[in-house]
Amino acid sequence: MERKLLFNKYPKLIHGGDYNPDQWLGYEGIFEEDIRMMKKAHVNCVTLGVFSWAAYEKEEGQYDFSWLIKVIDRLKEENINVIMATPSGARPAWLDLKYEEVRRVDINGKREHHRERHNHCYSSPIYRQKVEEIDTRLANAIKDKNNVILWHISNEFEGVCYCDKCRKNFQKFLKKRYQTIDKLNHEYWTGFWSKHFNSFEEVEPPYANGENALMGLNLDWKRFTSEMVADFMKFEIDTVRKITPDIPVTTNMMMFFEPYDYRVLAKELDIISWDAYPQYHNDYQSLAATFNEAGFTHCLMRSLKKQPFMLMESTPSLVNWREYNKLKKPGVHELASLQAIANGSDSVQYFQIRKSRGAYEMFHGALIDHNGRDDTRVFKEIEDLGSKLERLEEIAGSTIKARAAIVVDWENRWAIREAKAFCSSDKKYEKTVQNFYGALMHKGIETDIIASTDDYSCYDVIFLPMMFMLKEGVAAKLKEYVKNGGLLVGTYMLGYINENQLAHLGGFPGDGLMELFGFEAEEIDTLWPSEQNYLIYDNKKIEIKDYCEILKVKDCEAVATYEEDFYRNYPVVTRKNYGLGTVWYQAARFDANDLLDIIRKDLVRKGMEVIDLPAGIERHVREYDDKRFIFYLNESENDAEVEVEEGLELLSNQMIGGKVTLHKYQTIIIKA
Ligand code: GLA
Ligand code: ZN
Repeated sequence: MERKLLFNKYPKLIHGGDYNPDQWLGYEGIFEEDIRMMKKAHVNCVTLGVFSWAAYEKEEGQYDFSWLIKVIDRLKEENINVIMATPSGARPAWLDLKYEEVRRVDINGKREHHRERHNHCYSSPIYRQKVEEIDTRLANAIKDKNNVILWHISNEFEGVCYCDKCRKNFQKFLKKRYQTIDKLNHEYWTGFWSKHFNSFEEVEPPYANGENALMGLNLDWKRFTSEMVADFMKFEIDTVRKITPDIPVTTNMMMFFEPYDYRVLAKELDIISWDAYPQYHNDYQSLAATFNEAGFTHCLMRSLKKQPFMLMESTPSLVNWREYNKLKKPGVHELASLQAIANGSDSVQYFQIRKSRGAYEMFHGALIDHNGRDDTRVFKEIEDLGSKLERLEEIAGSTIKARAAIVVDWENRWAIREAKAFCSSDKKYEKTVQNFYGALMHKGIETDIIASTDDYSCYDVIFLPMMFMLKEGVAAKLKEYVKNGGLLVGTYMLGYINENQLAHLGGFPGDGLMELFGFEAEEIDTLWPSEQNYLIYDNKKIEIKDYCEILKVKDCEAVATYEEDFYRNYPVVTRKNYGLGTVWYQAARFDANDLLDIIRKDLVRKGMEVIDLPAGIERHVREYDDKRFIFYLNESENDAEVEVEEGLELLSNQMIGGKVTLHKYQTIIIKA
């Protein structure tokens, strides 16, 4: 594999975070003290200006970037790079009060007051005009500053607007998608409950007190809002690119965010970045389980462009906006940061460098605390991590080569959530795909998270957890993949609907997949939380929860059967050879770790090296050219013994290999 550096002029791992000196302009000496502390902590990059609109344009049309330029120049003297944010994440009060259309209309159709942030109407021409003006001036102000390495477009895009302008744009979107109102009526199945529309103008967004009962409409609203926000983001990207064509762009994403399809946004970006705030040390799951959720998101972010991504924000200690704001225990910050690196991040960054003195996040963790000291536990942990990241410089630009893929489509996720079926409150789609990711990682199998419309040819095995929606052409692609030798694993709920949430006719899985899998899924039973069923495989009793499909076998092999209920002895795991390949099916919900044990032989047959890592150990391999960096992270609460490759351990600078003991929260990185 080739080295894919994010910044050719800076071939290192980035360490830093959001820095907001504009909050401290009246405080003499603070800026120089910040620089001293940043240098001490091995900070090499800061993100400026995320919320600086009011500091640049205190009154309409009166711009002042002088403080910013001083900051950038002084950072340059200290070899600190800058990620330059566009300030559109929060609007000054004057703007909101003068032009009401920039403010969002909520789901009840009510216009918001001026408040908080991340709440703009993306359809408002005035908002776009104002953003264009400020972005253009900002880009001109910084265009010759060569320590600016990246644009950070706006901040954490989120939310939806229900104003009249957005409604009209939605109708335009529908017209483009369906061409005729008859087609829309058919796809929305409006014959049910007399929902027929005579024109696109009659179709409204799904207001809280409005039309919520058309599944296809709800789905289209989500598609529309993703496109809307991507369109707005693209507009900002175009604005700055005109002036600084050589500076790449990113926007900071959030976890496994549900409301927008991140693939629609990713198309417009050069670099993917995200803000990670997992709820460490909670009272409902193990630390390793929390790490697994973060690991899944890292994997998703890496997969969006199959190149290194950036951890744009994290907290070095705690957040302040949860119900219970727990500290990260000593060592967990390093572990979480190195987890990001292990998964393909080329940065570790924080919110924020200096803790705010007041307002909403004044008690959120930061590099520099209110006490201003550089000998706090948190500061010392960051300083230590910063020096380690410097030692890991050659890892930058390496990436992960995955032979397995998990298909995750946002539209499928939305459709599952919308479906009036199964368990209505929580169908656990997210938990299920995370379970697959974790199980694969635990068998030493690197995975990409892909879309059903992506290319399958580079994968030896593909998993389709809960792939309820089959988009047009996908079934044919899956068949082709297996025919040519691919290994394919489907689960319950496969192929019930098309992309507009109409059921496939003629039996599930639809669109020709019954032939591929060799059965028909005739019924699905939803279990109460207190219920379970079982299967027995290799003398192990495996518990089944939540969903049991009842299969009518045509020409597949029943590898395991249900032990209880009226479908006792019906197949729960099936296998079939098709063309040169093989398909497996998991008809009920049970742990993906057990499923992988069942299909293990076929994984090995595909030439995959299947291992069994001890509980709580995460492992990844980053590589380029002939270099391999193998990470082992102990996310359990105990020491653990692991069998590792021979090579130079980069954090201790010592040769290791064979059986080693990893202390709790310890990471080792072997160059082999
Ligand atoms: C988000 C935002 C930041 C800050 C942090 C605090 O990631 O982008 O501005 O609010 O959360 O956790
Ligand atoms: Zn709007």
